[in-house]
Amino acid sequence: MSVIFSSDFLIGSTTAAYQVEGNNINSDFWAEEHAEGSPYKDKSGDAIDHYRLYEQDIALMASLGLKAYRFSFEWSRIEPEPGQYSRSAIEHYRGMLETCYKYKITPIVAMHHFSSPKWLMRMGGWASPELPERFSKYCEVVFKELGDLIPYVLTMNEVNLPVMLRETFTAIGFVPPVGIDRESWVAPKWRESAAKLCGTTTENYFTFHMVSDEASIQLLKETHRKARERIKRIQPNTKVGFSMALSDVQSIPGGEEIAKKKWNSYFGQFTDMIEGDDFFGLQNYTREVYGPEGQVKPPEDAELTQMGYEFYPEALGHVLRKVASVLSIPIMITEHGVATDDDEKRVEFIRKSLERVKACLDEGIDVRGYLHWSTFDNFEWNSGYSMKFGLIGVDRTTQERKVKESARVLGEIANVSARSDSFNKL
Ligand code: BGC
Repeated sequence: MSVIFSSDFLIGSTTAAYQVEGNNINSDFWAEEHAEGSPYKDKSGDAIDHYRLYEQDIALMASLGLKAYRFSFEWSRIEPEPGQYSRSAIEHYRGMLETCYKYKITPIVAMHHFSSPKWLMRMGGWASPELPERFSKYCEVVFKELGDLIPYVLTMNEVNLPVMLRETFTAIGFVPPVGIDRESWVAPKWRESAAKLCGTTTENYFTFHMVSDEASIQLLKETHRKARERIKRIQPNTKVGFSMALSDVQSIPGGEEIAKKKWNSYFGQFTDMIEGDDFFGLQNYTREVYGPEGQVKPPEDAELTQMGYEFYPEALGHVLRKVASVLSIPIMITEHGVATDDDEKRVEFIRKSLERVKACLDEGIDVRGYLHWSTFDNFEWNSGYSMKFGLIGVDRTTQERKVKESARVLGEIANVSARSDSFNKL
């Protein structure tokens, strides 16, 4: 046992609807996967059939000792056509929430995790002036039905990822999961076909991952605020926030200015959106180092994860400190993980990172929980099923779940912590 937290520190894991449920045929991502010339390695298909198997999956999480489960609602299931809400989808998610309570797991819900209804693309997607009303109405409908079962909600997941994708990953040759922005997108044919599958043309087609210009970022901020307001009106007790992907941005001599600018575009430009939230969702995977010429490649002897970026468990503590120095609301680590076939590396990553989280708590930083990405090996967007982020493996031919040692380690930390004295009561 490496580290123990207070009993009220939430420890668990995370999934996203599109990556685990399967058959989200009304989603823009389904169109992207099935587009002519699509760069997606696999089709999501049945995914890991979590839509059907959620009860046994949540029971398994509980049996391991995990105490929290963050998952997302699929907007395109709940509202398959504009203004038409699916009773059966809402009841499905009620079932998931109630199952969490049955197994004494705290649910944390994301209303949006990258995928949007195809119909939204016909209206101009995430650049449409209708977006704030459409999205907040969807939140309102859900909260009227299920709000009393949702203690924590993220309106959206990783609002800054599109900016990061555009600024960083393209520079190092990493193929981003979806389009970046209208002008710079490098596969117009592919996008044309995806737009067609959504029933529109590229003029209207604007997915969440394209929100990286000033106008769409402002619209996104407005959408979050409006959704928060409606959620709070219905459920004042639900804690509302959103999450951001935050690399540990570092510099070597000569790169200080560039690193400062990067941090501002990844984080600084979004801080006004956090004002009025109840908590902040921090998500971290690695670091980015900048020198006078821009981003520096990891050293020759650096260990890389399957995703191609550096294995660097020190990052989480660094980012926590940076974020806490400017925020006055509690932080929840809503994602943190590593893609590897070697589960011992995952165990090392978890242990080392949690020791650093504990050090941050000891310094007085207000961190309320740690949610590992991901509960299961799942559909990693354009990389398909090749990336192994899971605490639990899945044989997709039989849908059999295979618990890895890392799941037992995190479950044990969660279990022992839950029974500890609340030496850090908040
Ligand atoms: C996303 C997940 C993704 C994970 C690993 C995060 O950016 O929220 O959907 O699977 O990183 O790449």
